[in-house]
Amino acid sequence: MTEAMDDSIGAPNGKVKVELTNPKLRTQLHEYGRRNRTDGPYADNLAVDALIVGGGFAGVFMFYQLKKQLGINTVIYEAGTDLGGTWRWNCYPGAMVDSEVPEYQLNIPEVIKAHNWPNNYPNYHDLRDYFDTCDKVLDIKSQTAFESVVTGAQFNTEEGRWSVETADGRTAKAKYLVVCAGFAAKRYVPDWPGIENFTGIIHHSSFWPDEEISVDGKKCAIIGTGATGVQLTQAWGPKAGHLKVFQRTPNLTVPMRQRDLTVEEQEVAKKWYPELLHLREHCFGGFLYTFSEKSTFDDSPEEREQFYEKLWQDGGFRYWLGNYKDYLFDPKANQEAYNFWAKKQRARIDDPKKKDILAPLDMPHYWGIKRPCLEYAYLEQFNRDNVDIVDIKNNAIVNFDETGINLEDGTHHDFDVICIATGFDVVTGGMTAMGLRNINGESLEDQWKSAAYTYLGTTVAGYPNMFHLYGPQGPTLLSNGPTTVEVQGRWIADVIKRCERDGIRYINPTDEASKEWKKKINHLSDISLFPTTKSTYMGGSKPDKAFEQTNYAGGLHNYGEDIRKVLPSFEGFHVVKAAA
Ligand SMILES: Cc1cc2nc3c(=O)[nH]c(=O)nc-3n(C[C@H](O)[C@H](O)[C@H](O)COP(=O)(O)OP(=O)(O)OC[C@H]3O[C@@H](n4cnc5c(N)ncnc54)[C@H](O)[C@@H]3O)c2cc1C
Ligand SMILES: *[C@@H]1O[C@H](CO)[C@@H](O)[C@H](O)[C@H]1NC(C)=O
Ligand SMILES: *[C@@H]1O[C@H](CO)[C@@H](O)[C@H](O)[C@H]1NC(C)=O
Repeated sequence: MTEAMDDSIGAPNGKVKVELTNPKLRTQLHEYGRRNRTDGPYADNLAVDALIVGGGFAGVFMFYQLKKQLGINTVIYEAGTDLGGTWRWNCYPGAMVDSEVPEYQLNIPEVIKAHNWPNNYPNYHDLRDYFDTCDKVLDIKSQTAFESVVTGAQFNTEEGRWSVETADGRTAKAKYLVVCAGFAAKRYVPDWPGIENFTGIIHHSSFWPDEEISVDGKKCAIIGTGATGVQLTQAWGPKAGHLKVFQRTPNLTVPMRQRDLTVEEQEVAKKWYPELLHLREHCFGGFLYTFSEKSTFDDSPEEREQFYEKLWQDGGFRYWLGNYKDYLFDPKANQEAYNFWAKKQRARIDDPKKKDILAPLDMPHYWGIKRPCLEYAYLEQFNRDNVDIVDIKNNAIVNFDETGINLEDGTHHDFDVICIATGFDVVTGGMTAMGLRNINGESLEDQWKSAAYTYLGTTVAGYPNMFHLYGPQGPTLLSNGPTTVEVQGRWIADVIKRCERDGIRYINPTDEASKEWKKKINHLSDISLFPTTKSTYMGGSKPDKAFEQTNYAGGLHNYGEDIRKVLPSFEGFHVVKAAA
């Protein structure tokens, strides 16, 4: 981190003053690493049983499992300045969830009891409140070192310990390394020339400063139409002087249907939460609904229309993961789902040109094989005079200059504020950016260049006693975060418990077992329409990523059964006992 950057951009909790003119663009997590303290979890040469990397849902759940339930010495290293993970970093205007209450929380009774939500689709402020509740109940922060970015780690088989390094030069030893880095730890910014020359305000959405940046009367740009681009458009559309949204592929969004929740109704409903949150694990995507028992053409056109309409009105991901069971497999069925979607969305857009860019009659890819995102007033923004959509599919961004953005066709676009909403080196990027080395000293980054290998989506051969959650080859992108975290987290805690009880020094998955798991991942994907597009699921989140499925596409229920099958025998693992 350079001196100039140190004070110019706020770390995510906004303790640092934001300077609004010509801030340098931060792109890497390790730029946030610094050492403010030396006590407790910040101490040098820390020695613990378990070291958790990441303080989001996964980190909190593993802390609860390992420290509170199992009672082993556990510390969290977190790059950000507070708990919350995704919701610490993603504080761009309008940032909010697309999982509905009560789905999007952990099944920890003490925390459920202590927390209520203001509405059914919370925003990042509400999520931060939730993590504060987690801390109040579980006392997590006293055992967490913030601004501690892991940049290197290797397991010593003799010692049976991980040696972990941070960006600011500390080392820690731990028997277990639990990687709770999420799927979005590595930001992706295309290497457009000239970004450094832009004199206005520019940030990647996921390194957005906490302080409000006024867009009153300002010329604003949003590059990208993932969840971030969509949510930010809703937030900025009514406020900005002028807003241009740069789109490569339209996001096939579906309506969210937000409503306020009272404390009273939640107190009544909480009686059922433990059951409901358990039920999530048996629905395909870890939500509280799953695919219909029917196929698309079991119904008549009229019945189909009615069914689609019901899903649409109920909102949320129902039109995606509660739809007919065949549409992600059968192109004809998929076309029906797309047609209804296009009809609904086109009706909301006035301008015929914008209509064709935002909701074209011909599908840009099969419906639902890219994650749709939820919205409440996205398309309506484009009916405002001050909001435009710029199609960059065949007219790419060439470079930036002092005043804005230049496109291939020679047009220049002037801006005061630019949000780079180009997302992440998704799923594998967090782990490959952490400096992990296997027992032979090879880096995971090199090993995974052409293809990622894990065993069960929770372990990696050559990385003993390392466990990862909500990452490569788990249900990850195809699921509700907390659900996957719990299914994997309980499994990991049980494995660690066994290791402790049976005097095991380490477990290490075999290459053969990892190859079999990879085959399974590919098979589950290949029977669907997913491989037809280089989507985020398939390594499409950045240009030079391997084209491969990185998610378990068989649904949460089957996933849970698959990982449980290998216990108690540790099938697929080398098990090395501690010397007597
Ligand atoms: C904008 C946005 C909206 C989303 N909306 C939803 C939604 O509605 N529903 C849903 O199910 N999912 C959603 N997700 C996915 C979301 O990430 C998960 O739901 C959930 O937050 C995952 O929790 P996690 O703990 O696994 O990871 P995260 O919340 O991402 O936390 C990981 C933490 O690890 C830290 N970390 C990473 N690498 C290092 C390192 N090397 N050293 C130290 N610390 C490190 C990071 O700083 C981060 O705080 C969304 C993601 C984004 C980006
Ligand atoms: C950025 O500015 C520098 C200094 O004026 C210039 O040399 C460089 O060419 C500019 N970059 C681009 C891509 O325009
Ligand atoms: C729509 O947004 C989701 C959520 O961010 C993203 O995963 C998906 O790839 C986007 N779809 C398109 C077509 O960009």
